[in-house]
Amino acid sequence: MKEKINIRYDDKHQTFHLSNRKFSYIMELRESTWLLHRYWGPKLSAYYGSNQPAAVKRTFAAALIPEIPAFSLEMEPQEFSCPHQGDYREPSITLRREDGCLAGRMQYKSHEITDTLHVPTGLPHIRPQEGKSVKTLSIHFLDVVSSIQLTLHYSILEDSAAIIRSAQITNLGNSPIWVERALSALIDTIYSQEQLVTFYGTHQKEFQLSRQDISHGRFSIGSVRGASSPQYPPFAALCTPETTEHTGDVRAFQLIYSGNHHVSAERDQYNHLRIAIGIQPDGFCWKLLPGESFHTPQAVLTYSSQGFNGMSQEFHKLFSEHLFPPQWSKRKRPILLNSWEMCYFDVSEEKILRVIQEAAELGFELVVLDDGWFGHRSNSKSSLGDWTVNPEKFPNGLMPLLKYAKEKGIQFGIWFEPEMISIDSALMRTHPDWCAQIPGYTPLLGRNQLVLDLTRQEIQDYLLEMLTNFLKAYPISYVKWDMNRHITDPGSQDLPQDRTGEFFHRYILGLYRILEELTARFPDVLFENCSSGGGRFDAGMSFYMPQTWCSDNTDALDRQAIQYGASYLFPPSAITAHVSAVPNHQTGRQIPFAARAAVSSAFNMGYELNILELSSEDRGQILTHLAEYKAEQEFLFHGEFYRLHSPFTGNDCAWMVANIEKTRAIVYFFVREYDTATLSYLLKIPYLNPEKNYVVKNTRQHFSGKELICAGLAIQPVQGDYPIVKLELNAEDTAL
Ligand code: DGJ
Repeated sequence: MKEKINIRYDDKHQTFHLSNRKFSYIMELRESTWLLHRYWGPKLSAYYGSNQPAAVKRTFAAALIPEIPAFSLEMEPQEFSCPHQGDYREPSITLRREDGCLAGRMQYKSHEITDTLHVPTGLPHIRPQEGKSVKTLSIHFLDVVSSIQLTLHYSILEDSAAIIRSAQITNLGNSPIWVERALSALIDTIYSQEQLVTFYGTHQKEFQLSRQDISHGRFSIGSVRGASSPQYPPFAALCTPETTEHTGDVRAFQLIYSGNHHVSAERDQYNHLRIAIGIQPDGFCWKLLPGESFHTPQAVLTYSSQGFNGMSQEFHKLFSEHLFPPQWSKRKRPILLNSWEMCYFDVSEEKILRVIQEAAELGFELVVLDDGWFGHRSNSKSSLGDWTVNPEKFPNGLMPLLKYAKEKGIQFGIWFEPEMISIDSALMRTHPDWCAQIPGYTPLLGRNQLVLDLTRQEIQDYLLEMLTNFLKAYPISYVKWDMNRHITDPGSQDLPQDRTGEFFHRYILGLYRILEELTARFPDVLFENCSSGGGRFDAGMSFYMPQTWCSDNTDALDRQAIQYGASYLFPPSAITAHVSAVPNHQTGRQIPFAARAAVSSAFNMGYELNILELSSEDRGQILTHLAEYKAEQEFLFHGEFYRLHSPFTGNDCAWMVANIEKTRAIVYFFVREYDTATLSYLLKIPYLNPEKNYVVKNTRQHFSGKELICAGLAIQPVQGDYPIVKLELNAEDTAL
């Protein structure tokens, strides 16, 4: 039987060839010493160096072998790079010895191929799945002078185009070394004409698409905010100018990490392109004692020849099957109603009881009590850290709410912001030293709050105990884990002078430790990740929490772009989207209910609007929408999501969900503005089966899949504000 995945080392040609049916990734060991990147693309059965450029001696290039002056790392495509070894591009690994000098003359030592998936200690990671093959190639390099080992890990899976890369640095010497830079992956491509796709954004405007040519020099995105940030998620993709959503080459990189990160693209003087991704080196420095290892987070690299939808399908499938908590990946999510835009801080027992009653009648499955329920919190200025029920708002505690929800047959969820502390809190009065701070400076406030020093184990333990006791005391089904500011004053009283550069990474390791323990203790609690919306929406957090509130902006027009952008990286099941009130609280827009409901429906749908004061028309619309959504939820949740028209480039936006067999598809088509000159819109639907015939349910028209793919479907304009057209296509057996 043919192997589904393969990692081969060809001793004669000194090549490593990683492949499955979706791709090949090839490296060469030059002179048994240096690891060079040779190929990454569609599967090859064999590789004999056809794409290797002739070696040319260049002035200024450092020769590694005096007899072969044309061989210099300056010209060679590499898989990692240490500074001052003849390669003057951006390094991926920077190591400093105790004497202050740089180390890093890495030479190949050995390698091994295993049938396991390499997991970096203490970090979220791609999980193997029972019954599915995985393989890992680990290549060891040694700096014999400074006694440091570098190991590059490459894991591949049988059913995925992804390569999971990480690096491990081990101190084999007798004195400490300082890791100043430890990126997870670096690749030098020898392709030309690439464009770079990244995302940028801010609070309420996350996942905005950027696509640009890469000219000479270095371009980078990243975060120094202590969180992956809405500014730049840890992702980049290379494509050609011809690549579309549906066709063309894409090579994408995504980091499984939630802290400070760095992604860079550098075009050098020979037109080579270097891409590197990993922990942000600015402000990072890790002291490694003799015998210790430093593990980088995993970077997921994926190749698609089917455009950006092909890339997203790879991420969606990989994350659904190998990243999210397994117990949640296929589990239907409750349709929730969140109290935030309904009540803000003004929550009370009386109100929430009424909300539960009405929510149950409308057909919701979970009521979430958001911010404002604890300490003496009535605005953002107090009580973070005091996670006891506010006795004025909830004189009988939470139990009456939980009991009532149970009686009404719905679940109950609650909001926490565990990483934070208010100055006005009992926790701050007891532990003024618990916030992150630098001696001599008053720590800066953000949203009136400070950040707990999660690098300290006693604070991690405290949070774990507090949350464990809370979840044991109350049968709560859902927790929204929020984080509403970025980090300033990155100092900890526990970190000695030579470890201050470890703060940010230790913070994230501390957070991961809490989440690992907590989610293991409460596997049936659904945790939703949030950071003022999508401020820390990354694959690292998604390892613990299968869904994320992707933006505090609930405006259905803005959400089209935000969700469209987020779907490049994450499947819709992981992206929560709520129907909210009009005028919208963030933009003041009055978007009709049909569009608000449709924009949310293909994602992880919920509501947050005041259901206690609904007009009978609104009530009717909600009842109808929830009934319709419930009938479609299973299909939408398990379906494949495809982007059709980009809101970043046109007046309309479209996406669709289809089942794997392509016998049913639901298409959502949103128009920004009615245009009198548009006679009709044309929508090509490439993901149907060309061999099948389809009936368009709404219009009862019959077309072949091939016609809808190639000629497209004309959609008649609908008048009004923010019109939407929802189409259902069903395959039929009858020949046309
Ligand atoms: C920011 C979140 O994104 C909101 O949904 C809400 O939970 C507030 N925090 C509460 O403070």
